[in-house]
Order: sequence, then structure tokens, then C-alpha cells
Amino acid sequence: MDRWQGIASTTSGKSLKLCIIKEEMNNQKSYKLAVLPGDGIGPEVMASALGVLDAVGDHYNLNFELQTELVGGASLDQCGDPITDEVLDICKGSDAVLLGAVGGSKWDNFSQEKKPEKGLLRLRESLGLFSNLRPATIYAPLADASSLKRDVIIGSDVMVVRELTGGIYFGEPRGHDDQGGFNTLRYKKYEVERIAKVAFELARKRNGHVTSVDKANVLDSSQFWRNVVHEVHQDYKDVPLSDMYVDNAAMQLVRDPKQFDVIVTQNMFGDILSDITAMITGSLGMLPSASVGENHAMYEPVHGTAPEIAGQNKANPIAMIGSVAMMLEITMNLPRAARQLNAAIESVLETGYRTMDIETSDSIIVSTSEMRDHIIQAFEKRVGQVVSETSYELVKEKG
Ligand code: IPM
Ligand code: MN
Repeated sequence: MDRWQGIASTTSGKSLKLCIIKEEMNNQKSYKLAVLPGDGIGPEVMASALGVLDAVGDHYNLNFELQTELVGGASLDQCGDPITDEVLDICKGSDAVLLGAVGGSKWDNFSQEKKPEKGLLRLRESLGLFSNLRPATIYAPLADASSLKRDVIIGSDVMVVRELTGGIYFGEPRGHDDQGGFNTLRYKKYEVERIAKVAFELARKRNGHVTSVDKANVLDSSQFWRNVVHEVHQDYKDVPLSDMYVDNAAMQLVRDPKQFDVIVTQNMFGDILSDITAMITGSLGMLPSASVGENHAMYEPVHGTAPEIAGQNKANPIAMIGSVAMMLEITMNLPRAARQLNAAIESVLETGYRTMDIETSDSIIVSTSEMRDHIIQAFEKRVGQVVSETSYELVKEKG
């Protein structure tokens, strides 16, 4: 469970000094990244994320070998497939995958197998990315950008842990003709066990609690889910666990999100609940995500392709940049860099800069690339400050 270590240190702040010293002294590290911009606003937000990554690499002495490839509609148009085996292999051979977004109305009438979304699903499945972490962090300056009241959202901090490679998304048999359609919702024990462990580990490190969301009053698969989660809980008795039906959870998330800490749930419920959670933060354009398995990890914003603003330099790059922060923390084990990047985002929002999706009164509307540049500047300023703090600590340590 070592790979979850990084996440914890963001909140705990313990052993920060040790961490700083280690990070400063490291020689240059090199990472292979598969970059899949995808469709719609995907390429724009990806360009911003790569700009930010460049700045982070400079300051942390990291080298990124980027390989840009097609996925989704872009891949359908050029290769006739939403993702090719070759691209899947490249992703498997990388330290991490960065993904923008996939989909668009142009491909709506394609068969299920040939929809852009299938590219993303195949990636998740073939890389074994069973746990999807979707943290909804409230940036105080954005409290008024949410459609929910300030008092309701301030202080909330929800982490949705979505099962990502099972359930109704992947269940067989499935199919439809002109008379009917069907899917299969099935969970195996090991699938529920491993995602439950991730949720409990995370909650433990956050000093929080777990809400397991299901529909056990109706679905057999959910009764099974609930039983297994409780079995796994025997090893995590220090972490409070409660169960909630998904309809109630949707309602409670908008009524009082502060009651939640870690939510763990099946693939489809997680898809729906994480969009609701995103609105707490003000915009779907704010929510980053990490999809992690035993051997691979992929980082992508939760938002879609937003075709209505694609190509106009108007999209909010913060969810994509936040996904880079998650990569720094989880794949590269650089929690401090991740914190600095998130702090840079917050300080830019404090200054009043907003992309149009998070406009509030008195805000200054900026484009995607302007937002990127402000975040890079804020990051560089912050790194400069911390570097001097670090030297101070090094001196103190020696003396
Ligand atoms: C998400 C998206 C995807 C999903 C689509 C694009 C396949 O909505 O990541 O939440 O349903 O998982
Ligand atoms: Mn979704």
C-alpha cells in the first residue's frame, strides 16, 4: 500500500522536513509519460498541464519523456478505433498516463464498440486501474461560484473512491437490439475487497471516515458489496464506517456535504456522485482525478470534452492541472510539489482570476492559457520562497 503514502502526507504535514531534504538532494529523475489529449477541450487543457509540468520539472530536477498519442474520437477519425493496441502498449510502458477528455456528438451514432468513450474504458481495463480517486476540494475564493450556498459548502472535503474496472460498465452479457437492451451488474469478492481497502487506507490517513454507498435495499450485487465492505472493515476498526443508499447519498451531498469524508462506491454510482460532488467545488472544471491500479496510473480531469467551447481557449485547465498535482504526489512521490501546485492554484483564484465557468462578481475573466501562465507564475513564486525556507532548514539541521 506504499503508493498511497503520498496522499496522506498532504494532510498530515508530518515528517515534512525530512521529505524536503530528501527531495532537494535527489539527482535528476526521469519519467516516461503517455500524453493522450483526446477530443474537445482535451488538447487545450492538456497543453496547459504540460506547461505547468515543465515548470515543475525545472524546479524539481525532473525529466519527462512525453509521448503524445491519440484516443477517443481523434483516434476513431484517424485509425478507425477509439484506441489502438499500439497506444495501449505505450501506456503500459509508461510511468503514468495523462488524459484530457474523450467524446463528442459527432460519434454519437457509432456502435458501443466504436464510441470514443470505449477508448477510455479499454485503457482503464487493460491497465487494471481499479480505483478512481476524485477529491472535491473547496477553494475558499470560489465559494460563491458554487450553485450551493456558501455556508453549505465551506469546510467540506470529500474524496470519492470509485470502483473503476468492474460493475455494470464492464459486466457481460450485455447488448441491445430494436426490442430491448440489457447490461449485467456483477461484483466479485476480490474487486470489492481491494477498493474497500483503498478507501479505508485513505480515510485512516485523513483521520476521516468512510461512507459506503450502495442500493442494498434493492440490488443483490449491492447487498454483497455491503457485506464485503463490512468484512474488510474488521481490519480497519479504527476507521468509522457507515452505509448509505445511493439515492439518499445524492440528496445528502447537496444538503450537507460536510458530513462526508471518503465515499466508496461502485463504478456507476461513483460516476454519478462524483459529478454532483464536483458542483460543490463550483464547477466540473475544478475536479481532478487519479485512476490507480497495482502497476499503472492514469490522471485525468473529471470534466468532459465541452464541445461548445472547444478550440476557443476558454476552458478551465484547473482540473487537468490538479490531475498533474495528483500525479506528482502518487506516481512521483513528491507531495510537497503537489501541495505547492495546489497552493499556486488557490492563490491565483484569490487574486480574482477566473475562467468563465467559475466567474464570480469582481472576478477577472481569463483564457485557458492565461490561467496556465498565472498558475505557473504563482508556482514559481512559491517554489522560490520554499527553496529559501529549505536552505534555512538544512542549515538548522546541520548546525
Ligand atoms: C467519467 C466519464 C466516463 C465514465 C465516460 C467518458 C466513459 O463520465 O470519467 O466520469 O463514465 O466513466
Ligand atoms: Mn462521469
